[in-house]
Amino acid sequence: MKRIVILVSGRGSNMEAILRARIPGAAIVAVLSNRPDAAGLATAHAQGIATLALDHRDFADREVFDAALAERIEGFTPDLVVLAGYMRILSDAFVRRFEGRLLNIHPSLLPAFPGLHTHRRAIEAGARVAGSSVHFVTPELDVGPIVIQAVVPVLPDDDEASLAARVLEQEHRIYPQAVRWFVEGRLTLVEGRVRVRDATVPAAGWTSPPLED
Ligand code: GRF
Repeated sequence: MKRIVILVSGRGSNMEAILRARIPGAAIVAVLSNRPDAAGLATAHAQGIATLALDHRDFADREVFDAALAERIEGFTPDLVVLAGYMRILSDAFVRRFEGRLLNIHPSLLPAFPGLHTHRRAIEAGARVAGSSVHFVTPELDVGPIVIQAVVPVLPDDDEASLAARVLEQEHRIYPQAVRWFVEGRLTLVEGRVRVRDATVPAAGWTSPPLED
């Protein structure tokens, strides 16, 4: 059984998608948050999962907080740590401690639009497609090796909210898939890129809409 710890800061819908997937061979052993009021914590608690809140505002700085968080995580002896809407930048020491067993989901087609406000930036850039990426975490923000991505169209009338909703629906598909691959031991890193052993080739994906006359 692979032991998984999930970190959330808010809503926790990706966490829920992973729970719903009931991945064979995976046990979600705890959900932790830097925000005591994170809705995701309450959801996990209601499902009988161990939860823990560690308020970053109670710590002197990022390094001290991350060290305390890492200790708590290690207490659950995880094989995998899943960031699901965890909205704090991680210190290098934290990332190194969990490197290779730390996944994140970012709501853009990396390497485009790392950082915040991805949907707004995609719309402002006139991007025809947007999406989401699950990647292994490395010290540089939103840069680690990509495991899986989902693509959605950017429609002419989209605003941040409508695009975010379209992307989120796909996030709920790809994050459980990435976790499943990890649990099945099918992910390897080769020269900084992810190989997925025996992955079925996906059906032809969505492509940019035809140009109008
Ligand atoms: C998702 O869009 C994820 O890509 C980003 O934060 C959002 C979290 O949503 N990192 P939720 O808390 O999983 O509902």
